[in-house]
Amino acid sequence: MTQDELKALVGRAALEHVVEGSVVGVGTGSTVNHFIDALASIKARIAGAISSSDKSTERLQSHGIPVLDAAQVERIPVYIDGADEIDRLGHMIKGGGAALTREKIVADLADRFVCIADESKLVDTLGSYPLPVEVIPMAAAQVMRRFAAVYGGEASLRQGVRTDNGNLIVDVRGLSITDPLAMETEVNQWPGVVCVGIFARHRASVCLLGTAQGVRTLKFD
Ligand code: 5RP
Repeated sequence: MTQDELKALVGRAALEHVVEGSVVGVGTGSTVNHFIDALASIKARIAGAISSSDKSTERLQSHGIPVLDAAQVERIPVYIDGADEIDRLGHMIKGGGAALTREKIVADLADRFVCIADESKLVDTLGSYPLPVEVIPMAAAQVMRRFAAVYGGEASLRQGVRTDNGNLIVDVRGLSITDPLAMETEVNQWPGVVCVGIFARHRASVCLLGTAQGVRTLKFD
């Protein structure tokens, strides 16, 4: 199976985690696009979606799935999203699609985070994938210098990208993230950082991993 077929497999499998009659949180990316397409087949059985990006909103609406504002709900039962990397405890790197801040906001509304990913995303230690950080433009150079000083990573600005919130993305290469929660907590405090793409506080509850043998379910809670 190709990587895209594995993504489609877990995108469809995620339907089993959607709670009928409820609002579902929807992430961003090529794996989630498959989930959105599958969600269209049960759209009459859900109350709508909270979206994590303009791109996902467009795709949801093109299928006639109602998209609600985050302010309209207090809690949702489940958030379904992909990852750039996931470790064996459910910690993730996210933000390859530059949607990390809204993804974390929707994940924070949800009781459970269902990660959908092809098997190439499973790692022992996070950090081979460049860590995305959303920053206010004025702080970008300062944040990049601080990364080099504190963690030794090589930070660069993602060229030609503005987030849905009008900010910039810094990508940090060469990290070995042995304590994801500590790094998330530290970097989130730096002035000008809007959101770091480590999802440790909002780690996955479960991961549906697409493999050549089928969907493997990893449970973390
Ligand atoms: C977007 C994300 C995505 O979930 C992540 O980049 C994985 O994307 P894909 O499903 O295309 O491999 O965090 O900001």
